[in-house]
Amino acid sequence: MQTIQLHDKQFVPYIDAAAIEERIKLLAQQIDADYKQERPLFIGILNGSFLFAADLFRHLTIEAEISFIKLASYKGTSSTGNVITAIGLEEDLSNRHVVIIEDIIDTGKTLHSFMHELNNRAPKSIKIASFLTKPSALQFPITADYVGFEIPNKFVVGYGLDYDGLGRNIPSLYQLSE
Ligand code: IMP
Ligand code: MG
Repeated sequence: MQTIQLHDKQFVPYIDAAAIEERIKLLAQQIDADYKQERPLFIGILNGSFLFAADLFRHLTIEAEISFIKLASYKGTSSTGNVITAIGLEEDLSNRHVVIIEDIIDTGKTLHSFMHELNNRAPKSIKIASFLTKPSALQFPITADYVGFEIPNKFVVGYGLDYDGLGRNIPSLYQLSE
């Protein structure tokens, strides 16, 4: 098995590029069927989702728009903890059907916090498409509507996901070696 090294850690092959592509085609068909006349606005969350967003969007055949944002975390009051705010979200979301595109839902903290900001902009609907979810790591009430793969609570890299900046350009998914 061809392990790879990123910084100080070894990773082993986990999900190959062909399986990823097949899965994403199916997700796109599902979204096509769900949003036929709706012209949804997809919002990709940078950096991790850029490959998933590109491939998912490429396979859609419905009328759709896409935009990208970054989420920045800053320290709120002691009662609010860290607040997550969107950078680059210029679209008017009122009366829009929004589909968030995320790379992975781990604890769910990032998206859970962002949902408040999103709800304030009064979209018609919000759904979440996440390439990966780690159900056993989830700590916040957040559910993805479209999931590429449910994976165990182990660190993964590739297909947009990084370990300390590296690994995003690997076309398949690798898992941290035991
Ligand atoms: P959450 O707020 O705990 O759900 O974390 C989500 C973010 O953590 C993702 O958008 C990723 O940037 C990062 N993350 C969580 N798990 C992994 C992983 O296994 N590999 C790479 N990044 C991860
Ligand atoms: Mg990351």
